[in-house]
Amino acid sequence: MPQYMICQSPRLSGEVRVSTSKNAVLPILAASLLTSEEVLIHGAPDLTDVRHMLEILRSCGAEAEMHDGCVRVRAQAVGSPKDIAALRSMRASVLVMGPILARSGECQLSMPGGCAIGQRPIDLHLKGLQKLGAKVEQDGGAVLVSGALRGANVYLDFPSVGATENLLMAAVLTKGLTRIENAAKEPEIADLCRCLNQMGARIAGAGTANLTVEGVETLHGAAYTPIPDRIEAGTLACAAALTEGSVLLENARSEHMRALLFKLTESGVICQEDQRGLRLRGKARHPMEVRTLSYPGFPTDLQAPLMTVACQTHGLSVFLETIFENRYMHVVELKRLGAQIRVEGQLALIHGGKPLNGSRVTATDLRAAAALMLSGLAAQGETILDDPAGHLLRGYEGLEEKLRSLGASCRRIN
Ligand code: EPZ
Repeated sequence: MPQYMICQSPRLSGEVRVSTSKNAVLPILAASLLTSEEVLIHGAPDLTDVRHMLEILRSCGAEAEMHDGCVRVRAQAVGSPKDIAALRSMRASVLVMGPILARSGECQLSMPGGCAIGQRPIDLHLKGLQKLGAKVEQDGGAVLVSGALRGANVYLDFPSVGATENLLMAAVLTKGLTRIENAAKEPEIADLCRCLNQMGARIAGAGTANLTVEGVETLHGAAYTPIPDRIEAGTLACAAALTEGSVLLENARSEHMRALLFKLTESGVICQEDQRGLRLRGKARHPMEVRTLSYPGFPTDLQAPLMTVACQTHGLSVFLETIFENRYMHVVELKRLGAQIRVEGQLALIHGGKPLNGSRVTATDLRAAAALMLSGLAAQGETILDDPAGHLLRGYEGLEEKLRSLGASCRRIN
């Protein structure tokens, strides 16, 4: 079981490079199933989620390997993935559905797993595929989608990230014109569109709520470098703010992080964008009001990391989580460190400025794990973070090493 020891740390200072985005790489890996030619992905982060996705691609019949951050996929023929553990362990496994259906006419899949942050149904994925002409059959934990697709207008009841990605990937090889309205606008989706267009797809409207896809017969291979990880960058920015640090996040794309940077700036942190990335200086002093929303609103994935900052600012901060119904699991653990937080439904009230004391805490999901590691930097004494499910290894490339390179005292102890 991965376990980490974190000690109260001085101000973080120095430079650290932001890794490539996990949530951009995963759909792009799924997209590599759309062509029989080779797809190269540069700068892929070494994460268990990425390795699991490669296993899933292999179980779909593709050759897929990673060396020194370069992923090579060749999917000469594809079929439904085998029911391997990797498939059940990660939510993003559902993203192979669109590509396999579009390429081979059917896809059978076990319902995906992943972080237990809410119910996370896939009804919007399935409804959208039905609109494109797919037949959907569900049997217990398995779903079968089949049939020839044709372009259609799809309206998403909610701008789901995964449903937008799945529908885009199904539509690129579908005859006719597909319009996806109320699509998700996350930068990872615009990145997927760029990669697909580089493979020969015809997608217009990338980064907006209205995507238009003109189906093509085939896609070809490509070499692509996905965007830097805005959530990792945001987590490191919170660590800097928490310790009154002075940090350069090399490679961070401020334009993808506006909502967080507004909150940190309002709270007193100096955030400066320059050619090399994003510089942060100073301390978060003022309490904050945060409402998680779809992009460009405040990202749910940074709610837990920013809450650790709110725990350190004097006064009452108010957080409202609107995306996932079970995303305050870190609160119980933060309270073990002495944080004063009250949760009422979607609302969390944080009475900040109380001293935190090191304790033993458990990671309940990926972003909760990161938040607890950050809190350990501010807590007096020693904090032991148990991560029985290996969440940090799934989604952050050496977070403890990156923090240590900035002067933090934290390390993996087994
Ligand atoms: C993506 O998950 C990310 N994962 C999540 O990151 C992120 O938290 C989330 O988007 C929101 O930004 C990846 O990109 C791999 P959604 P996804 O479909 O696609 C409901 C992390 O820590 N919904 O936009 O699963 C759903 O239950 C992870 O890196 C339906 O009701 O998110 C949720 O309440 C965790 N029906 C909301 O929409 C559906 O068919 C948002 O989900 C689909 C979604």
